[in-house]
This record gives sequence, C-alpha cells and structure tokens, in this order.
Amino acid sequence: VGYVGAPDDERALGVVVDGLARLEYRGYDSAGIALVTADGLETRKKAGKLANLRALLEASPMTAAATGIGHTRWATHGGPTDGNAHPHVAGEGGHEVAVIHNGIVENFAVLRAELEAAGAELVSETDTEVAAHVLAARLREVLAEGLGGGAALAEAMRRTCRRLEGAFTLLAVRAAEPGVVVGARRSSPLVVGLGDGETFLGSDVAAFISRTRSALALGQDEVVTITADGASITTFDGEPVEGSPFHVDWDVEAAEKGGYPSFMAKEIDEQPRAVADTLLGRSDAAGRLVLDEVRIDPAELAAVDKVVVVSCGTSAYAGQIAKYAIEHWCRIPVEVEYAHEFRYRDPVVDERTLVVSISQSGETMDTLMAVRHARELGARTVSICNTNGATIPRESDAVLYTHAGPEVAVASTKAFLAQITACYLLGLYLGALKGTAAPEVVKEVLDELHAMPEKVQTVLDGLERVREIARFMADSRSVLFLGRHVGYPVALEGALKLKELAYIHAEGFAAGELKHGPIALIEAGQPVFVVVPPPASPHGLHGKVVSNIQEIRARGARTLVIAEEGDEGVVPYAEEVIRVPACPPLLMPLLTVVPLQVFAAELAGAKGLDVDQPRNLAKSVTVE
Ligand code: G6P
Repeated sequence: VGYVGAPDDERALGVVVDGLARLEYRGYDSAGIALVTADGLETRKKAGKLANLRALLEASPMTAAATGIGHTRWATHGGPTDGNAHPHVAGEGGHEVAVIHNGIVENFAVLRAELEAAGAELVSETDTEVAAHVLAARLREVLAEGLGGGAALAEAMRRTCRRLEGAFTLLAVRAAEPGVVVGARRSSPLVVGLGDGETFLGSDVAAFISRTRSALALGQDEVVTITADGASITTFDGEPVEGSPFHVDWDVEAAEKGGYPSFMAKEIDEQPRAVADTLLGRSDAAGRLVLDEVRIDPAELAAVDKVVVVSCGTSAYAGQIAKYAIEHWCRIPVEVEYAHEFRYRDPVVDERTLVVSISQSGETMDTLMAVRHARELGARTVSICNTNGATIPRESDAVLYTHAGPEVAVASTKAFLAQITACYLLGLYLGALKGTAAPEVVKEVLDELHAMPEKVQTVLDGLERVREIARFMADSRSVLFLGRHVGYPVALEGALKLKELAYIHAEGFAAGELKHGPIALIEAGQPVFVVVPPPASPHGLHGKVVSNIQEIRARGARTLVIAEEGDEGVVPYAEEVIRVPACPPLLMPLLTVVPLQVFAAELAGAKGLDVDQPRNLAKSVTVE
C-alpha cells in the first residue's frame, strides 16, 4: 500500500494500516510501515500477522505524516522475522530510502555481491534489501548529475528497475521528497487509486475502495510517481505513458465481514448470488446465450480444434470440471494443466488452440506466465477472472469475468462456483459457434443453470448435520474423498479445502482408481467422502460408484456420501447421506462441492484455526 495526502494531512498511518488490513489475505507472515515525517523516515515492522504490527504501533507510536507505504509479507527470500519484514531502508541523509517489494529479484545474489564489494552493509536475508541499496546508490548518482526537484526518486527507480531481473512490484519513499511515493512494476500487480486530494497505490483495489472507486491500471515495466494531486507514469526508460483508467464497481460492504464470524463463512453463504451474478446479462430475452464480451472473431473461435485450460489451486479444479462440459458440448479435446507445468514443458499449441486461463485474482504469476507462453505460441487466449483490471485479463485476447464479488478468505469458495459457471457458459458458447451444441441444448442448459442458485441455497440451508459431523471429526488425521466424472474434481477440491483450512492430510481419488492402489489405505474407521453421480447419469455411472462405496464399506471405512435427493440406492452403504437437489449430471459440482467446503471450514473452526488466513498460504501468489 502507498499513500500520499495533502501536506497537512496527518492520516497516512491510518490509511496505510487500513489498506494493509484489507490486503492482508495476500500474505501475512510479517508487516511493516514507513512514513515520511518532518524529521525524516520512520519505520516500524514486525513478524506475524498485522495484529502484531498494530500492537507495536501502540507501544511505539509513529509521528503523524501525509506520506507512507506499508506491506504485508509472504516470505520468499529469508524467513518471516522482524529483520526480514519490509520496509527495508538504505542510504543515508539525502539518499535515504525505504522500500517495500513483492515478487522475486532473480539476480539478487549478483547484485548483493556487487553492493557488498562496494562497502554496503546488508542486514537482512531478503532480495528486497538488495533492491533498496541499488535504489539508494542510483539516487546518489542521479543527485550527483544534478537531477533534483521532485523527480530524483523516480529517475533512480527507473535506473534500478533496469538492473533488476525477475518479477517485482516496488514502492519507495525518500526522506528528502515528502509528498511523493514512487512505484514500479514488472509482472507483479500494482494499481493506482485516484482520490480527492489523495492518491493511493495498492497491490489490488481492495487497498483503497473504502476511499475511491477511481483507479488506474499500470502496464508492464512502468514507473509511477504519486502525489496528493494524482499520478504520472513512465516506462522504465522514462517515456511518459498514460495509465488505463477503470472504475471499481465492488462495494465496500462486499469486502467486509458484515456480521459473519469469518470471510469464509460469508463467502460460502454468498454462493447462490455468485452463480446468479455470473449468469446475469449473459442471455437475451428469448433465453439465448449472449457472450459479446468474448471479443475474439467468432469464425476464429469456431475453428478452434483444441482447448487447453491453465490454472492453479482451486481454479485448476474448475478447469477439470470444464473439461467434461466443453468436450461434451464442443466435441474437441480439452487438456487441463497446471499453469506452472504447461509453461515449462513443450506444449503442442498453435493458432487453432484456445488457451483458457482461470484465475480468481488474475494475478497468479504461474498462470500469467502460462498465458504469455501460449500467446508466444500463437494461441488465442481467454481469461476467466474475478478481478477487474487484473494483469491476466489485460494480457489475454478476451475475458469472461466471473461476478463473485471480492473474495477475501484465502481459500477460494464462491469464486470457484462462479468459475465453474463461467466455464459452462464458455463451453456452450463455443459449442454453439461450432454447431456441436444445438440451440435447444444451449437453451435447456441455460435454463438449468438459472435454476442453480436456488438449489445451491437449498444445499446451504440443509447443512446442519454436516457441521455436526465436522465438529465430531475434529481429531481426524486423514480423510479421503472419492468421485467419478465431474465428481472427481469435486473430490479433489474437497480434499484441498481440508488440507488448506484444517491442516489434515486429505486425498481425493477418482473412484474407479481406488481398486488400483488407494484402497490399500482403507482400514477400519477411515472416513471417506464419496461424491455420487445422479442415478440418471449415463453409462451406469451411478451403479459403479455405489459399488465403490460397498467396496470400502466392506473394509471398514466410514462412508460419508453426497447424493441426490431421492437416491435410495446409496442408503444401505452410507454411514451418513448428505442430500443435494436433483440437477443434470454435468452441473452437479455446483451443488456437491458446497457440503465439502462447509465441512472443511467447520472442522477448522472446531480446531480453533483461522479459516480466513491459513498458515503458509497467500491468496494471490505473485511469484513463480
Ligand atoms: C493460491 C490460493 C488458492 C488459489 C490459487 C489460484 O494458491 O491460496 O486459494 O486457488 O492461488 O489463485 P487464482 O487467483 O489464480 O485463482
């Protein structure tokens, strides 16, 4: 977070701390602040969550100031200690700067050696401190050349960035330039907030939406200088550029807990709306699909002969669900791959490949790199994204926004349902263009989709027993999840939620694979969730999964079965049956994942864990 208010504005500390609180989901193993006061730079930093920094600020208050920067960290170089927390200060007197940083400076070892050879004393293990020292040295150079005024820090920043390799966002303040924060970005996110007589920088708009909705996106390799009156931007080479203005339509309340005990609880509850809002405005009065926003020539899209989905984490499971739907409606192969694996093999991709990236944040570095690689290979790229103005949609040929609203809890819930919904829409759209999905089919599925928010609500309303089971199982050491067809990615997501939130060893398996190995894990008392396809599923799928349940039940497993309302076939083999309303087999994940989310969150709560900020994780992982 960066902030500049009017010279007599003394709110920098409050604004920066508030911004950090709203961004804490991005990383929370340490936090720190630097203010430009009348007496020079003042910093405070502390390992642990923001609460620890707040306590330090109480014990050791800072001088009022109009200009400041603040950071919450997700450690890359150097453990989460007070010393490694940002800001890092370098230089002396007129050259003194404080720097905060996201990303990784890949040539930091070379730079560090150079700095140490020149006599610099580095006190932390971070690459950030190296960047701070390079900046202080460049500043000395710039000042020696007589480039003073309010522009020295920005020029020093440009020279610094030209020396740095890797991906980074940097913010810097300088004791001798009050009223100025300079930022720079290469690949990592940074946005500007334009207020009334105050200007903001943030890793995302959540940092300032309580104060302004007017934002400016920065391009790749740009340096921005903010003052109380606005922002000016140049390239790393000093060419002036215009930022891209955009309006933030998220309301502030949407990013607040609103009476819920956690963001996760609120976001799970908001899922019917996330699905409904993602469908909103995407069909016409006659019930036909309208996806004008996918601005790729329809003829080109119709000619696509392969889809590759790239994503990470929960978003990757939305991709796996998309595979079943898109292949069914479009009759072309769909490959689903973790973005970080796609990028570093030799993927077979050409102009007739559609690469679909799925990312809630739109900033996940692994996914961004995959999209760039796909473009280099000539593919068309569509981004499914929940964050307006984020880097991945801006670097893609087209974007299909999910409208889940801001998701703050680190582990994804409502964005996942919105992603699955968007994938269905994209699949239907492609199928319609290719002529493989008949208009009646498209209309029928759209009607079914429009009925889903209410069904998600029905699931949410009937989960008291799931909560009881979760509390009862708080001591579990291992939980398995089985599913088949689209239930398989749901099983994987159920396991991921439990790992992320409750730190319990959990695995998801394709139910059919069970007998080829994982069944060896089954022993008396082993809890196993089974996601059962509807009895109406094609190819006798339902019966096969029921057999799988029998197989594990016979070996002593405790079977927790998620099945459609009225599916009596599962009852004899289930210790517990969790019911979901009937819906077409392909759309089932929108319902069946919900009990698994609630199970994980409730169990984590019973263990006394922080469901919004699980250990070691961060919401937007902007390093590779
Ligand atoms: C991180 C988060 C996950 C998320 C993944 C992908 O690992 O902890 O919850 O699913 O990133 O994030 P994205 O923003 O690209 O969907």
